[in-house]
Amino acid sequence: LKKILILGAGGFAREACLHILDTVSNCDIAFYDDFPKSDNLKIKNKVFKIYKNFEFAQSEGFKEFIIGVGIPNTKILLTKKAFESGLQAHDTIVHPKAHIQDAQIGVGGIICPGVILTTNITIGDFVVLNLNTTIGHDAFIGDFSTCNPGASISGLCRLEESVYFGVGAATKEGISISEGVTIGGQAFVTKSITISGSTWVGVPAKELKH
Ligand SMILES: CC(C)(COP(=O)(O)OP(=O)(O)OC[C@H]1O[C@@H](n2cnc3c(N)ncnc32)[C@H](O)[C@@H]1OP(=O)(O)O)[C@@H](O)C(=O)NCCC(=O)NCCS
Repeated sequence: LKKILILGAGGFAREACLHILDTVSNCDIAFYDDFPKSDNLKIKNKVFKIYKNFEFAQSEGFKEFIIGVGIPNTKILLTKKAFESGLQAHDTIVHPKAHIQDAQIGVGGIICPGVILTTNITIGDFVVLNLNTTIGHDAFIGDFSTCNPGASISGLCRLEESVYFGVGAATKEGISISEGVTIGGQAFVTKSITISGSTWVGVPAKELKH
């Protein structure tokens, strides 16, 4: 029996639970949340425990984790706590309905149904590639980055660490995006973004300044 702890207990964590159950046979799943709204989650009529203490989860056999949140800064906080408590990252979960042709993939992340990765692609640690994300040749996705459903990353693009790439957004080929950048839903990124932590929206994407 494989035991996997999902970090987070929100909507994406519940989706991640189903993706893991589709992928790993004979698997026992539980959740971790700093401030859980209840003691457990009910998914498809099955009850899953939510821990708020990593030591307790470990004592009950949960020694490996997968990230279950999309926001990069939350991923960083949760993985830091999990490592400090002695847990280890499980290999990234690659759903059987994802099509992975030629990619190097890190640990602790999740690659959802419908994702397509073609050739010479590098995916870092704790990366979430949500439903139907496509990533073209020679692309690089940095640690803690998230691509929301339907993201299209063209060939030769580079997303540095902790990029949050919005639902249905796309890049022109050969674009680099700096650390901590947010790309809004449905944006089209036509040139490299060098301002770390900035937010870009629209077609073509322009910086959103509050
Ligand atoms: C870009 C984004 C991060 C901005 O969020 P925010 O900082 O809370 O911004 P606000 O909602 O306050 O919007 C600020 C302005 O930007 C506009 N805006 C927000 N998102 C936009 C988008 N994706 N495209 C174009 N304009 C957008 C708003 O209409 C608003 O314009 P206004 O000031 O003229 O009214 C967010 O809207 C977004 O697109 N997030 C991605 C969501 C996603 O992928 N979800 C999937 C989860 S699985």
